[in-house]
Amino acid sequence: MQFKIKNGKGLKGEITVPGDKSISHRAIMLASLAEGKSKISGFLEGEDCLATIEVFQNMGVNISKSKGMFMVEGKGLKGLEGPTSPLDFRNSGTSVRLCSGVLAAQEFSSTLIGDSSLSSRPMKRITDPLSLMGANTSSSKEGTLPIRIEPVDSLKSIKYSLPVASAQVKSCLLFAGLYSEGITEIEEKVTTRDHTERMFKKFGIPIEESRYKATKFIKLDRVESINPMDIDICGDFSSASFFILAALITSNSEILIRNVGINPTRIGFLHALRHMGANIELQNKTDSFEPTADILVRTSELKGITLNTNLVANMIDEMPAFFIAASLAEGITKVKGAKELRTKESDRLQVMSEVLDSFGVKFQQEIDGITINGLGKAGMFRSAEINSHEDHRIAMASSIGSLRADGETTVLKCLNVKTSFPNFVDVCKQVGMNIERYE
Ligand code: S3P
Repeated sequence: MQFKIKNGKGLKGEITVPGDKSISHRAIMLASLAEGKSKISGFLEGEDCLATIEVFQNMGVNISKSKGMFMVEGKGLKGLEGPTSPLDFRNSGTSVRLCSGVLAAQEFSSTLIGDSSLSSRPMKRITDPLSLMGANTSSSKEGTLPIRIEPVDSLKSIKYSLPVASAQVKSCLLFAGLYSEGITEIEEKVTTRDHTERMFKKFGIPIEESRYKATKFIKLDRVESINPMDIDICGDFSSASFFILAALITSNSEILIRNVGINPTRIGFLHALRHMGANIELQNKTDSFEPTADILVRTSELKGITLNTNLVANMIDEMPAFFIAASLAEGITKVKGAKELRTKESDRLQVMSEVLDSFGVKFQQEIDGITINGLGKAGMFRSAEINSHEDHRIAMASSIGSLRADGETTVLKCLNVKTSFPNFVDVCKQVGMNIERYE
């Protein structure tokens, strides 16, 4: 699938974006492990989260949809059934890493597989600490999928300092910690998204969080059972980020994005853009288990910045969009401490460098970051044919960047946009973008 985009101006509108991907995965997982019926509204029906549903259905959990709401008949922490075939996580890193923590504690064997992108992503970061907990896991010799998990008598809790800033690793260990003898203790030197901690609390699971300076400590005891819960999921900030970018870089634009999650561990992009001079207002803030707001964005003149490395983990999925903003800002933007970008659905430092090169931007790629020479407020990208390497966020960031190209741009290999934002093209059209999809 490819998108063709013409440059634009005057984007206007009030939109909503689909449900939060991270929260949707966690809601299905905890509801499946609870004892009884949970209802989930606002669930993201993207391929990644549908993969999580299928995985739990393959383990005997009854999950159905009625009137836009998902009903999950939870089987209890030990009630899952052994799957009769390999569990296919398709493109979803979050799903495979978080579910590994649950599967390591089951009384049945499982084999975890995924598509070619997921099969090249690092899994030792989860299998190593799970082994320390006594789990019996094996992966390919490169430390990638397929992962095979064999049952063990019991898991033991560990005290673990995360070697990489990864919410997926943290969450994998927290899920395993639900089953482990003793108290699981996790130390996080860089704070990553805390959706698992919030969702555990929402389901009534006692979890203790504390801080010393920048380091966060989490403690979790084994639990015997989980009560079901009704969950309402807000719009995904990462999906909203593309429309924040669109309004900022397109002349005479104003977009209001309703009911978006503004969890403080997710909105580094917003802080970075405001530092660059972006005109972004948060309205109608709510403070439920995940805070939300309506986000109003207007065209802004951006200036280059040296990105505070502390923000990187809290805007890791927004980096492709941030690189586009930096490319159209006045002056130089420097990003360091972002090596994790190389482990995503594609090597996002490399692939975004290729995108910027096609757009005619001058930049210097480094091992853990990039320095970008912004084209400034009057600058235009060279219209191009962009290869998104089947990475949904690269495809969407490049499509939005095309609003500032000097002609029509084609973005190739966009099929995976449906993993996180199935109606992306429709929402683009709602705000007045000239974009078409070709199968
Ligand atoms: C996610 C964590 C992040 C993020 C991913 C979703 C999560 O991955 O990139 O899209 O839901 O926990 P890492 O933990 O690998 O940084």
